[in-house]
Amino acid sequence: MTVPGFARTVPHAVAGPRSVTILGATGSVGLSTVDLIKREPQRYRVEAVSANRNALALAKIAREVGARVAVVADPQSYGELKEALAGTGIAAAAGVDAVDEAALYPADWVMAAIAGSVGLRPTMAAIERGATVALANKECLVCAGSLFMRAAAKAGATVLPVDSEHNAVFQALGGSRREDLRRIILTASGGPFRTWTAEAIKAATPEQALRHPNWVMGPKITIDSATMMNKGLELIEAHHLFALPPDEIDVLVHPQSVVHGLVEFRDGSVVAQMGPADMRVPIAHCLAWPERIDGPVARLDLAALGQLTFEEADSMRFPALALARQAMRTGGAAPTVLNAADEVAVAEFIAGRISFPAIAALVEATLEAAAARGLLADPASIDAALGVDHIARSLARDLLLNNAVKAS
Ligand SMILES: NC(=O)c1ccc[n+]([C@@H]2O[C@H](COP(=O)([O-])OP(=O)(O)OC[C@H]3O[C@@H](n4cnc5c(N)ncnc54)[C@H](OP(=O)(O)O)[C@@H]3O)[C@@H](O)[C@H]2O)c1
Repeated sequence: MTVPGFARTVPHAVAGPRSVTILGATGSVGLSTVDLIKREPQRYRVEAVSANRNALALAKIAREVGARVAVVADPQSYGELKEALAGTGIAAAAGVDAVDEAALYPADWVMAAIAGSVGLRPTMAAIERGATVALANKECLVCAGSLFMRAAAKAGATVLPVDSEHNAVFQALGGSRREDLRRIILTASGGPFRTWTAEAIKAATPEQALRHPNWVMGPKITIDSATMMNKGLELIEAHHLFALPPDEIDVLVHPQSVVHGLVEFRDGSVVAQMGPADMRVPIAHCLAWPERIDGPVARLDLAALGQLTFEEADSMRFPALALARQAMRTGGAAPTVLNAADEVAVAEFIAGRISFPAIAALVEATLEAAAARGLLADPASIDAALGVDHIARSLARDLLLNNAVKAS
């Protein structure tokens, strides 16, 4: 299996513009990708762009980057998209299957930036045709990591990590030999509640949780940063991406978000990757890989920063991290259940229906309920993984309906 970052033959850069598709183009990662592409139009030719229902924003992007096709997942948004693209020559399509088909367009490079487990199918479609996939959608590896990495190896697809921590590890590995690695360390900002007491965290509101100190991101991942579930999902992502056992993946809280990931080698060397807290840095790395392009972000000024600090993560105040680590160790479908329950819990929290601590409590209760029903066997296909995802969501909703988990 080809593992990103370890010694391998790096392909020569392709002559001519790189053809790209952006799945989830209207989101936070998608817009950063569009921004980079617009700055280097001669380097990129855009095949397809997709969104869920944000038709007007998608049509604007499609026009700006000269895409061949724009696709919305929600069929009700089709009319709006078609009208907004009238006279441009850009094809419009709608529906879940059309999003999968967008991934099949002959782009060499696909940005997988749909949020949530709905991104599994289109991302797998891109992997199975052997594309270079810039993977932002961590749910692919969390929900069906073994399947994805096996499919990538079989199809000769290249998986490039977009998540800043995994991208940092990818860069820090620098083509080293697997046997020389001791461990990797993913850094975490600690989120908005890093310094809050357990008592204060209990009363945290969605508005407070959505105010991330360092990163501008979509709502789901921002709440996950506040609970530290995001770091937990990233542990599982790293476990599959780099084919590492759980004991060789650590987390360190680093409030400045300058060091994104570190690799410790057996001779005691620790190689870290640093950069501004702007997703355009890792996205630019993936977009140009194996070359580099000019990044538009302000350069890192370490003297102005003065200090970089590190501390252990506190799993008492942030139990989601320990739940994710346990799910990684359990393996099978435990991470799939963890992710599904978390998606339900975060949506409920944002809607104001459950409290902040209830997010981790609901995830834990759903994992217990799934284990009791014998649902944790390793999913044998994407359909099986999505089946577990579906059941786990129902379990989580039932637990809330039956008041088995305290909402407040
Ligand atoms: N944001 C970051 O800095 C960051 C960093 C690392 C990793 N990631 C990961 O990258 C992924 C995207 O995150 P994000 O923050 O960019 O999310 P986001 O801002 O919420 O954007 C999500 C994108 O997915 C589309 N989408 C949502 N539901 C869909 C559906 N049912 N079918 C098809 N498309 C759908 C959205 O379209 P609409 O606009 O129409 O809703 C939008 O284009 C997540 O897996 C996240 O964990 C994000």
